Amino acid sequence: MSTRPPASDCEPAATLPHRLRQAVPLEVRVWVSRRQGRLRWIRKYRRVRSFGLSLHKNPAKVLRFVLTDPEVENFSYEIENEEEMASFLADALGVSRNRIAAYMQEGHQDPELNQNLSRRVRWRWDCKSRLSLGRRIGWYALVRTLRPKTVVETGIHNGLGSLVLLRAIERNAVEGDTGELISFDIVKSSGWLVPKSLRRFWTPVFESTFTALDPVLEGKSVDLLVQDLGAGREAELHDYETVWKHGSDRLVLLAASAHLTTALRSFAAARGLEYRHFRDIPRDHVFPGGGTGIVVTGHAGGD
Ligand SMILES: C[S@@+](CC[C@H](N)C(=O)[O-])C[C@H]1O[C@@H](n2cnc3c(N)ncnc32)[C@H](O)[C@@H]1O
Repeated sequence: MSTRPPASDCEPAATLPHRLRQAVPLEVRVWVSRRQGRLRWIRKYRRVRSFGLSLHKNPAKVLRFVLTDPEVENFSYEIENEEEMASFLADALGVSRNRIAAYMQEGHQDPELNQNLSRRVRWRWDCKSRLSLGRRIGWYALVRTLRPKTVVETGIHNGLGSLVLLRAIERNAVEGDTGELISFDIVKSSGWLVPKSLRRFWTPVFESTFTALDPVLEGKSVDLLVQDLGAGREAELHDYETVWKHGSDRLVLLAASAHLTTALRSFAAARGLEYRHFRDIPRDHVFPGGGTGIVVTGHAGGD
């Protein structure tokens, strides 16, 4: 049996001397870490090794990632088993597979999520020139299907997930179903990928979910949570419990880092709710794949 810890696409806990790192302000640390990704060869090679790959066995893949990839964490990649993801979401929501697949297709062809996104990142040193939406295409289909009024996202990073969720919310609004997204991150510079045109549906909150989630959600009725902090079990459970308190009777909880912890599974089991799990398979990437967990309460999206 393997003793390897589950693969994370967020950075592992600090390995540099802790006190030294803490002396540097968070924004500066994040700036260095995210802007200099292409040059962080040692860190990237360590990550590759933690995924069970080696230069010897997978030279092309490993060299391409280590020498040229700007992403050290929160990887963007295409998904090999997207059809399976459509079936997974359709089963969870009790809707037809074709409906989910059609929304995924809509997302893939959407100009804001393709040409406009590519135009914005093309010349950025800290970003891939073509960003793949990966599992976030499932979040798009989820929002188009559920037509939620209030969506909460914990963990913004560059804002790729926020962009996808907001574009789905905007499309719903055009069809008469208005909605909003409230996103949380401790890093103030997060979310730069979100264009001005979509910000009217968005409330970004730059504070820890431990202190901000409960007060910000006061008086709200949350229909969908995308939990994507990658910060461990305690933070995850905190977010589920808090959102549960402010949840509508059709609340859907989604764990975007379900390959790292079993928090949502335990949360569901304690309440007698059904938990479903999906494992994505990255196409041509060193990351071995992420897990998505979902819990659907009430009558969320049934045909
Ligand atoms: C995996 S990334 C989010 C990815 C993003 N949802 C996307 O789709 O690309 C995790 C983010 O959570 C933020 N974070 C970690 N712990 C947090 C906390 N307790 N409260 C708010 N944000 C936190 C980090 O700063 C990081 O930007």
